[in-house]
Amino acid sequence: LANGLAQTPQMGWNSWNFFACNINETLIKETADALISTGLADLGYNYVNIDDCWEALTRDIKGRLVPESKSFPSGIKALADYVHEKGLKLGIYSSAGVFTCQVRPGSLFHENDDAATWASWGVDYLKYDNCFNLGIKPIDRYPPMRDALNSTGRKIFYSLCEWGEDDPALWAGNVGNSWRTTDDINDTWASMTSIADLNDKWAAYAGPGGWNDPDMLEVGNGGMTYLEYRSHFSIWALVKAPLLIGCDVRNMTAETFEILSNKEVIAVNQDPLGIQGRKVNATGTDGCLQVWAGPLSGNRFAVVLWNRCSKAETIKVSWDSLGLESSTNVSVRDLWKHKDVVADAVASFGVPVDAHSCEMFVLTPKLSHFRA
Ligand code: DGJ
Repeated sequence: LANGLAQTPQMGWNSWNFFACNINETLIKETADALISTGLADLGYNYVNIDDCWEALTRDIKGRLVPESKSFPSGIKALADYVHEKGLKLGIYSSAGVFTCQVRPGSLFHENDDAATWASWGVDYLKYDNCFNLGIKPIDRYPPMRDALNSTGRKIFYSLCEWGEDDPALWAGNVGNSWRTTDDINDTWASMTSIADLNDKWAAYAGPGGWNDPDMLEVGNGGMTYLEYRSHFSIWALVKAPLLIGCDVRNMTAETFEILSNKEVIAVNQDPLGIQGRKVNATGTDGCLQVWAGPLSGNRFAVVLWNRCSKAETIKVSWDSLGLESSTNVSVRDLWKHKDVVADAVASFGVPVDAHSCEMFVLTPKLSHFRA
C-alpha cells in the first residue's frame, strides 16, 4: 500500500502469542520500557502492538469503541503518549467483522468512526482480524478500513489479518502494508516449518510497501529448542516477514535475547532491496535438507542452510541455484558466528548443519570478477 510506510518489514512486539487476553496497561508500559532497556528498540523493534481483548464488551452510548476499564483504566491515548515519549509507536487491534475473535465489538460497518477514534488517540498501527465476518469476502471488507485510515490524515500502518483467505498476495498490494498468508502459528516446530513452506509460494508478491506475513514470532515462548528458534528467526528474516516479537520481553533468557538481537540477521530482513528470499533447493528425505536464499542490495546474497532432517548433515549452496556463474569468487560471512569464514569460495559453499538447526550467511561476489 502506497502510504509511505513499510519500506522494510515492520518490527516490534505484539501481545497475543504469549499473553493472549491477559493484558493490561502496566504490561504494555513495562514492555515498552523493556524494549528500550534491553536495546531491542535501537535494533529496530519500535511498534508496541496490543492485540485482542483491549476493548470493553460494548461500545459507548455514542457508538465509540472504549477500552476495558479494569485493564486499561487510563485509556489508550495515555498509553500512546507513554510509548511516543520513548520514541516508540503504538499498535491497536480490531476485526473486519461484527466481533473480534474474543467477541469484543468489531469494526465492520464502523470503519470511519473507529479509524477516527484511533487517530484521535495517536495510534500508529492497526492489525485487522477476520472473525465474525458474515461470510463477506475479504476483498470487500478490507479496503473500506484502508480508506477510513487514510482519511484520518494520520499515518497508520495497516496490517491485514485475513489468515490467507482468498490469496491476499494477489489482491492486497494496494490494500495493506502486510497480509497474513496462513492460519495462526503456534509454538511448535511442525507449525513453524509448515507455515514457512506455505508462505514461500507468495514470495514474488512481497516488496517495499506490502509484505507477506507468515505470522508473529514464537521465539522465547518455550515450545521449541534454541536451534529451532534460531531457524525460525533466520527464515523469517530471510523471507522479509514482519519481525514481531511474541514473547515476554521483560523476562527473556540470554538465548532468546541473542536470537532476537542478532544485528546481522535483522539487517537481512531490513535490506533496502526488499526481495523475499525463497527455498531454492531441497534434497534428502522428504526434501529436509534445504537451501533458502535471496538477493540483497550491493549484489550480495543472503543464504540459509536449513536442516529439517533428524540428524546432522552437510548442506551446500551452489552458485548455480543463485543465478551466479560457477567461476565467481565469493566471500562468505557467517551471521551467527559473526565471522568471515571463507574469502574466495568458487562454485559452491557447504557446512555441516545440526538437526533442526540452520546456518546463515551473506555471500559477496568479488566485483573484480565482473570487471575482468
Ligand atoms: C486470530 C489472529 O490470527 C491472531 O493472531 C490473534 O489476533 C487472535 N485472532 C486474537 O483473537
